[in-house]
Amino acid sequence: MNYEEITPRELKPALLQLDGISRVSVEAHYKLYQGYVAKRNELLRKLDAVDLSTANQVYSDLRALKVDLSFAIGGIKNHELYFEHLGGEGGDPDGATAGLIERDFGSVDLWRADLRATGIAGRGWAWTAYDWDEGRLFNYIGDAQNTFPVWNATPLVALDVYEHAYFIDYQTDRGAYIDAFFQNLDWSVVNGWVEAYRIPPA
Ligand SMILES: [Fe+2]
Repeated sequence: MNYEEITPRELKPALLQLDGISRVSVEAHYKLYQGYVAKRNELLRKLDAVDLSTANQVYSDLRALKVDLSFAIGGIKNHELYFEHLGGEGGDPDGATAGLIERDFGSVDLWRADLRATGIAGRGWAWTAYDWDEGRLFNYIGDAQNTFPVWNATPLVALDVYEHAYFIDYQTDRGAYIDAFFQNLDWSVVNGWVEAYRIPPA
């Protein structure tokens, strides 16, 4: 097999000065993120040495390594989205993202209410993603780093609702953390993704 080691992306300085999400909380995410990167590299290295003839669905090295690889890779991708699109002024989206949200949710307030509720209902993540087959945005739910991604959908907003995301700042009040998350979104980053992925405008 052919694989390359990767290194963690650096944290933008703005991430350490968020509004209502403490530096300590962001550093907790980052420490976990560094761990996911290290484990991704370790898992791929170990997969390189696995005897494919021992593959078994009940237990096998191949199975164990690949299941946990999906957790590590999910942890990397989810956190890279999270870090990249925070550090902004929050408020309502503008540009192409505003048009998509208004078309697919009815209004920004309805989108926000749905994503907030999805984050309350999830055990790890909630994402606003553009589903290429449906041709629209939808707020998908996640319980862990590797559940439940939907094929052929591109995440544009990634809301981390693992306890490390809010317990230091808000104890069990996850809703208050989600409100703070909205206040720190950088819509210019999200609009940049919409453009880069060539998501058709509303
Ligand atoms: Fe996190």
